[in-house]
Amino acid sequence: MSGAKIILADVAKSFGDNVVLDGVSLEVESGESLAVIGQSGTGKSVLIKCVLGLFRPERGSILVDGDEVVGASEGKLARIRKKFGMLFQGGALFDSLPVWRNVTFGLTQGRFQNSARMRAIAEENLERVGLSRDVLYLRPSELSGGMQKRVALARAIAPRPEILFFDEPTTGLDPIRADVINDLIVSLVEEAGITAVTITHDMASARKVAHRVAMLYGGRIIWQGPRDRLYDSGNPYVDQFVQGNAEGPIQ
Ligand SMILES: Nc1ncnc2c1ncn2[C@@H]1O[C@H](COP(=O)(O)OP(=O)(O)O)[C@@H](O)[C@H]1O
Ligand SMILES: [Mg+2]
Repeated sequence: MSGAKIILADVAKSFGDNVVLDGVSLEVESGESLAVIGQSGTGKSVLIKCVLGLFRPERGSILVDGDEVVGASEGKLARIRKKFGMLFQGGALFDSLPVWRNVTFGLTQGRFQNSARMRAIAEENLERVGLSRDVLYLRPSELSGGMQKRVALARAIAPRPEILFFDEPTTGLDPIRADVINDLIVSLVEEAGITAVTITHDMASARKVAHRVAMLYGGRIIWQGPRDRLYDSGNPYVDQFVQGNAEGPIQ
């Protein structure tokens, strides 16, 4: 075992009276692909934003390679964040910039520098997600939804992160385009040895991209297990969720 890359212990996060996370404990092994499933509004995005230090939990501990995120200084957080690539829900591309500047945005921090080299890096990373150099000078709005996701993915991997977070990577895509994205996630994890956390309510995606699945409900991880057990979890909440039943313990 190569050891845990990320360890969350008893993490809690509220917004006013709205208790979103209420004692989340979860470990992600190095090189593992974990999916976190749960209904909309259960706090999946909040959870990864806590790991990135974008939200500050009221209690608990979040270790990344043994470094504590909770209560860390901005300088330390900036160092820890360099390990992460993030595919945000909705892609979050800058439509005022051509594709190549979007892909290299994390490398240049928005500064315009060494354009030939940056275009070469953009081209290389677009190729990794199956896009040709034909898209380099297009604006994101000129691309289909599936291609926009791939550009966002190219941007996330360009800085060669150790850990990738995917927030609803297949939402809004038809099943075939969604599967292309799933395949890309699998190949990135396998080829680059990246540790991946995918947040999704798409069961086909969870089963395809993840070695292990954890379900968030009521502010806690109520079940976790290998992906093969997702439809055989023995947990009535998981059963209801994966089968999409209106009837069951989840109201
Ligand atoms: N910046 C914020 N300020 C206040 N409440 C927030 C903020 N971000 C998220 N929330 C609340 O946290 C809860 C969980 O949101 P979210 O993590 O986006 O859900 P999910 O990703 O599982 O669909 C929601 O009730 C949402 O309103
Ligand atoms: Mg979300």
